Amino acid sequence: MSATGGNETSLLSRFIHKMTKTTDEGGYRSSSFLKLIWSWIVVHVIAFKFNTIEFLTRHRELSPDSVGNRAGDVAVVTGGARGIGLEVVRKLLKCGMHVIIGCRNVSAGTQLIDRLRAEGTTTGTAEAIALDLMSLESVKKFAREVNSKTDKINILINNAGIMFVPYTETVDGYESHFQVNFLSHFFLARLLHQGLVNGGKGKRNSRIVNVSSCASFGGHVDFSDLQLKRGYSRFDAYMVTKFLQVLASNATDRKHQEEGAPIRSYSLHPGIIQTELYDGVAWLRMLKFMTVRMFKSPAKGADTVCYAALSPDIENEGGIFLANSQKIPPNPLADDVQLQNQLWDITIDLLEHKVEK
Ligand SMILES: NC(=O)c1ccc[n+]([C@@H]2O[C@H](COP(=O)([O-])OP(=O)(O)OC[C@H]3O[C@@H](n4cnc5c(N)ncnc54)[C@H](OP(=O)(O)O)[C@@H]3O)[C@@H](O)[C@H]2O)c1
Repeated sequence: MSATGGNETSLLSRFIHKMTKTTDEGGYRSSSFLKLIWSWIVVHVIAFKFNTIEFLTRHRELSPDSVGNRAGDVAVVTGGARGIGLEVVRKLLKCGMHVIIGCRNVSAGTQLIDRLRAEGTTTGTAEAIALDLMSLESVKKFAREVNSKTDKINILINNAGIMFVPYTETVDGYESHFQVNFLSHFFLARLLHQGLVNGGKGKRNSRIVNVSSCASFGGHVDFSDLQLKRGYSRFDAYMVTKFLQVLASNATDRKHQEEGAPIRSYSLHPGIIQTELYDGVAWLRMLKFMTVRMFKSPAKGADTVCYAALSPDIENEGGIFLANSQKIPPNPLADDVQLQNQLWDITIDLLEHKVEK
């Protein structure tokens, strides 16, 4: 083999090595390189398609009719201290709500509140409470604190998320996308259930808004490897967990309807939004000068989230998927009732020992 050929081989093997490397103590997980490449292609094709559509279509602003005055109502927002979440908090404050921000760094949350005040948002009230979705114990603590402060919750926005991170296990032993994007949010909604029921007893239903992604269209569910431990691909992990959010959202809405609970659930794609979420995507980081023009702003990303949280147009229409503040068909698997029930039962089983009796 020529020197050049040898270099190429070693470059390729270093690339494969890097892409399949995992951070757990076990060293290297038997990751399928083909799966990695395939899932990279799928997620990028989906994102490119959505980005093109969004670039060519008019953005639907959140209209004042969709917002209204919601003084006296309470919203809980995870990951509310930056990115899309920050703009969601700003919009909720503008309609007079009390907003509880769940964030890892409470001082970042408090600084955000000060910043929003300094920037002219004078209505509503807000507070930051510690929440680390990598730990079910932290979710429990957060929920306990929220429940001690308010007996009603009108809106729960499951917004926090991670994308394309290398294989890492949480303190609870779950793959990190699985826990942060899906499991901890599902757990949080269960722990805040009574508050949400109370919040829905007034003029309108309470709402659970699951900030998923267009990546959910590349997702699937494999109950024999729900926790993504086999042949790990970070791209697949993001697509799968964003899909699980949609599947669980539809399941939750249906279960609440069957029980007569006044809570509706929505899932959505906020748009391709310029945030720090893409900081882990090297080639996009290099093209930031382009993406700031091609991607929507975080304020626009917050529009669909707030539309799902507040709009009277969808009051009686839970279990739907939204993009650009419009209902669109979700990944078809998300409407499969058998899959919904299976996911629901398995997730409840996973969490059973964690739920306070
Ligand atoms: N940006 C997009 O184009 C896009 C597209 C589709 C879907 N989404 C979805 O939109 C949501 C918001 O994303 P973004 O673009 O605003 O991303 P971002 O700027 O990276 O913000 C992510 C948020 O999640 C929080 N978070 C991450 N890990 C957490 C943990 N373990 N515990 C608690 N909070 C945690 C972060 O809090 P810290 O400040 O503590 O890190 C931050 O507030 C995500 O669910 C994402 O999947 C975004």
